[in-house]
Amino acid sequence: MAKLRLLYFLPALFFAVFTGKTTAQIYRPSAQTEERVLKLLDKMTLEEKIGQLTLYTTDWGSTGPTIREGYKNDIRSGACGNLFNSHTVGFVRDLQRIAVEETRLKIPLLFGFDVIHGYKTIFPIPLGEAASWDLEAIEKSARVASTEASAAGLNWTYAPMVDICRDPRWGRVMEGAGEDTYLGCRIAEARTHGIQGKKIGDTDAMLACVKHYAAYGAPTAGRDYNTVDMSERFFREYYLPPYEAAVRAGAATVMTSFNDYDGVPATGNKYLMTDILRKEWGFRGFVVTDYTSINEMVNHGVIANEKEAGELALNAGVDMDMQGAVFQRFLAQSVKEGKVSEIQIDEAVRRVLRLKFDLGLFENPYKFCDEAREKAELLSPAHRAAAREVARKSIVLLKNEKNVLPLKKNAKIALIGPLADNKAELIGNWNGAGNANDCVSVLEGVRAQAQQEVLYDSGCEFFVAKKAGVGPALELAKQADVVVVVVGEQAMMSGEAASRADISLPAVQEELVLELVRTGKPVVVVLMNGRPLAIPKIAENAPAILETWWLGTEAGNAIADVLFGAYNPSGKLPITFPRSAGQVPIFYNEKSTGRPYNPDSKWTSRYIDTPNSPQWPFGFGLSYTTFDIGVPKPDKTTFKKGESLQVTVNVTNTGKADGEEVVQLYVRDLVGSVTRPVKELKAFRKIMLKSGASTTLTFTLTERDLSFFRRDMTFGVEPGEYEIMVGSNSAELKRVKVLMTE
Ligand code: BGC
Repeated sequence: MAKLRLLYFLPALFFAVFTGKTTAQIYRPSAQTEERVLKLLDKMTLEEKIGQLTLYTTDWGSTGPTIREGYKNDIRSGACGNLFNSHTVGFVRDLQRIAVEETRLKIPLLFGFDVIHGYKTIFPIPLGEAASWDLEAIEKSARVASTEASAAGLNWTYAPMVDICRDPRWGRVMEGAGEDTYLGCRIAEARTHGIQGKKIGDTDAMLACVKHYAAYGAPTAGRDYNTVDMSERFFREYYLPPYEAAVRAGAATVMTSFNDYDGVPATGNKYLMTDILRKEWGFRGFVVTDYTSINEMVNHGVIANEKEAGELALNAGVDMDMQGAVFQRFLAQSVKEGKVSEIQIDEAVRRVLRLKFDLGLFENPYKFCDEAREKAELLSPAHRAAAREVARKSIVLLKNEKNVLPLKKNAKIALIGPLADNKAELIGNWNGAGNANDCVSVLEGVRAQAQQEVLYDSGCEFFVAKKAGVGPALELAKQADVVVVVVGEQAMMSGEAASRADISLPAVQEELVLELVRTGKPVVVVLMNGRPLAIPKIAENAPAILETWWLGTEAGNAIADVLFGAYNPSGKLPITFPRSAGQVPIFYNEKSTGRPYNPDSKWTSRYIDTPNSPQWPFGFGLSYTTFDIGVPKPDKTTFKKGESLQVTVNVTNTGKADGEEVVQLYVRDLVGSVTRPVKELKAFRKIMLKSGASTTLTFTLTERDLSFFRRDMTFGVEPGEYEIMVGSNSAELKRVKVLMTE
């Protein structure tokens, strides 16, 4: 027994010794839970065990290609132990009742749902929220979502989505935190904490499910579900860390991804699910597949049929089959044939049951079914206020020539554009149980704060290719002091299965904006979109541009707050905005190459028809005030390997308004045993400074911050020269060099 215990704690011990961090937050079942699980497992038939490894969607709605019928009978017979796409107290209670009253062992069901950026009160899409660089606000958003969803019958959400993405063609870029690994890790932790609350088992919290493991955000050509292939070094350095961060922050479950990685579909990939996830990180929760991704391994061409796909998945480390019915149909036979062992099935079942016990479902299966709480929590004034706060923090001011913004409240405004009086799009994709009618449109938000009548015209439709309809909008523009034009994508143009080859503004909208600019009136472009757009003409010609993503229920109020200056914009891009799709993939932390970019020399790494620089770089965002960020000052210019470095930097608000700035710290290892990026974000701080005020910030860089996968794939530092850079975005930085010695 003592030996067994030691084995149990070994991964944690390994982590603590080698990283200096504790594993206090990683999910661990208690000894009592373990005992209860074993007792229950003893009573279970093989079929009942497999039932616990099976997850079906209800007919409430579907998030994938197949709908199965007859799930109620599957619950009754014990063949299905978990459901998704079923929520609201009334609906869930009924199904839970079947499980705990009509089945032999009365094991309660898990109820999962994609609560990605809010349940009923909808927050900004995750990419937008990442632009706030405000970890507290992001955690709070996930907390509110979890509080609402857990009041509506749910106990499990398929979030956080932590896939790093450097390719805006990929539609699912909207669900993540953007392109950067460091920012992605911090946001993965914040979201996990927000979802799971203080502890698993609290009535206002759900199980988190970090997804999509792994590297789903790097499909070839930005096409959803496509092949992922990259070196292990690249994978471990840029794509893997956010999953690990979420697991270490306590995420109780992990979802596999649809893609293959290094030739093996993630859902059948033992290296990912067993060697890395369980052995390296010590993960003790369960792994669920993505929607029918076991079945899809046949299409991938690594297995001949679904039965063998199930065996491959289970043996690789999958515990639960989402919607594919592969485990239900074939696993018992596979056990008989000795293709999978019952011990392995037991282990998977234990992982699932532990969490059902920890959630407290055996004590009270209706714990998350409380009508009174459901009524009180959903769309509560406090939740709406939180959504407005996060929404305005997520807005990025991309351009503001001649201080067009903020608008005067008594200005005569012409509000134009297909999204100006729109609610349906504001909740974005993956919008939980959100209802578009609950949203505040931009027109409503602006009217509520403007002191003059607001003129409105839609200007054009989304998909109309010619200029019809622009006329009345131009007339209104001529009558106004200022034009605000709200344009962008439709919400369903990003998200799953929504990759685009052309990432410009759809249809005639660009023409509408340019026509408005030609009237000579000051024009403010309000963009709504789920991905970086390539809009070079608008970037050049419109005097003011606000990136507002899909901001959710309080979108209109949040946008009006920024337009009129009730809130000074503080968002920073979490992803590079290219000049054209031809620059994609484009990201700030690139490597130098042997022929670094030189626009004056042909024989360098460059395009002949466009600069290398993006339209707007990672970390970029303006404010209604200005900041001066000083040269970084290290506490020593030479330091020993193993020592930390303190870097101080002075920041002054040099403008007339109070405002927030995100001070970003980047590092470059000048000579490595392998090529290193020209800069990498290693720390940031979001601070509020009154007009004229100054402060000094101190950042600590540890050995771990400077470590990387060296030539031999060991993780650590290499003494030598480093450049420390500080600034307000990844392209405008002040630098200092330091030397690490042996
Ligand atoms: C998506 C997942 C989602 C699942 C369940 C899949 O199609 O890839 O992100 O959690 O459906 O809705």
